[in-house]
Amino acid sequence: MPIDAFEGRTAFVTGGASGIGLGISKVLAARGARVVMADLRPDHIETALAQFSGGAQSNQVSALQLDVTNREAYAEAAAQMQEEFGGIDILVNNAGVGLEGPILEATYADYDFGFGVNVGGVINGFVSFLPQMIAHGRGGHIVSTASLAAEVVMPPHLAIYGASKAAVCHYCESVKAELAEQDIGVSILLPGPVKSNIHETQSNRPAHLLEGSGFKDSEAKLSRRIVGANWMEPEEAGELVAEGILRNQTYVVTHGFYKDAMRARAEAVLAATPDRVEEAPDFGQFRDE
Ligand SMILES: NC(=O)c1ccc[n+]([C@@H]2O[C@H](COP(=O)([O-])OP(=O)(O)OC[C@H]3O[C@@H](n4cnc5c(N)ncnc54)[C@H](O)[C@@H]3O)[C@@H](O)[C@H]2O)c1
Repeated sequence: MPIDAFEGRTAFVTGGASGIGLGISKVLAARGARVVMADLRPDHIETALAQFSGGAQSNQVSALQLDVTNREAYAEAAAQMQEEFGGIDILVNNAGVGLEGPILEATYADYDFGFGVNVGGVINGFVSFLPQMIAHGRGGHIVSTASLAAEVVMPPHLAIYGASKAAVCHYCESVKAELAEQDIGVSILLPGPVKSNIHETQSNRPAHLLEGSGFKDSEAKLSRRIVGANWMEPEEAGELVAEGILRNQTYVVTHGFYKDAMRARAEAVLAATPDRVEEAPDFGQFRDE
């Protein structure tokens, strides 16, 4: 069964203890789900748990510390969810880092950090949890947080970020039909500006990827950025995600003001595409072994 209500369902939300992930955790818990907030940062976990403490949903919410790039730890977390809840029903691959900096100074440390968390973390979520989500037979849903940065041409200081988020989009789009056959829905969250701690990106870098980074100064500056008063509240994004899960929406988009830039990019690709329509290529032929 795809998700048609949240009661009795278990959700595992990565990066669930801050910003958008916390907004999603709050909304899913309020709608009746058991929620496990998985997050790298003990300080975020402590603050997030305190927000539920003594409230109506405090018994439904728990947390565990997890670095989504750590495959062994991720496998252990999945085994723990299997043991505690008979497997999860909803996976929210939301943990991400908003790295930015002068692209010509980027080093492998920056590429490894950006793609490691933003793409690797999502893939580790799919690989760790899909077997149990298929095996328990209850159906389920996987939401992955990309960004509207994936849909527009980004300025060069956000090239790694935008490319990593585009990879998430294309992967999720491609697996959706296959997972539908297992009663598992797939959604991609494409946020514009939402109130969060994403400016703390540098604090989420492991020491070995801060060492040698070309983005040290720009991310130090980013850490002083003030969250815009008119950015979306995380709970509002959480509500959009909850509705997106119930409707099995492929795209959950928070903001409309990138529409012209999105259209311009799509039209540029179409404008470069020949009008001639060739015979469809046949990719199904193989040499004998
Ligand atoms: N806030 C925005 O405006 C915005 C816009 C577009 C996309 N996004 C995306 O939304 C997602 C959530 O970001 P946010 O804005 O809420 O930021 P945030 O920093 O408030 O929340 C992200 C959480 O992920 C955790 N995290 C970071 N690295 C991790 C790792 N390796 N393993 C586990 N947890 C990790 C952090 O500790 C933090 O609690 C990200 O994927 C981000 O790229 C955010």
